Amino acid sequence: RRSATMSEEATVESGRSFLVGNKKDLIEAKRTSVTLGDRVVVVIHHQGVFYAMDQHCYHAGGSLLNGDIEEINNKLCIVCPKHKYKISLEEGEGIYNASNPKDKDQPPCWMSKGIKQRVHKVTEVDGNVYVTLSVTPGWIESDYYQTEKGRAELKRV
Ligand code: FES
Repeated sequence: RRSATMSEEATVESGRSFLVGNKKDLIEAKRTSVTLGDRVVVVIHHQGVFYAMDQHCYHAGGSLLNGDIEEINNKLCIVCPKHKYKISLEEGEGIYNASNPKDKDQPPCWMSKGIKQRVHKVTEVDGNVYVTLSVTPGWIESDYYQTEKGRAELKRV
């Protein structure tokens, strides 16, 4: 696991693409925290696939850098270490267990809260890995921790 600040902007695609590093190093690190422009993003390599998403959890800003990864309903999800919220790696969907906790015989019933965490696109070119920041319009809850107010809140906790 490592941390880096990236300012180099690549021209792989239109949009804001950043070179985040060498593929081999990122695979070895498994999780890498990068600052792309003014956004803090975690790049994850898991089971042969790269993912990138806002690093601070939409719920209360917990860092997803060291979150476990579990498969839930055929979706790979990162589990925020802070309060165990589950977020799908591919879409940033908030997933929750809607089972009745009093009924122990009932199998878990996983439901979606919709897209909560902003995910970014990862591209590999000639052994280098680039992240293109999401331009999905509208507010996604994890955007809060990328604002000045949200960042100030992270410093307080
Ligand atoms: Fe991530 Fe609460 S901050 S689950």
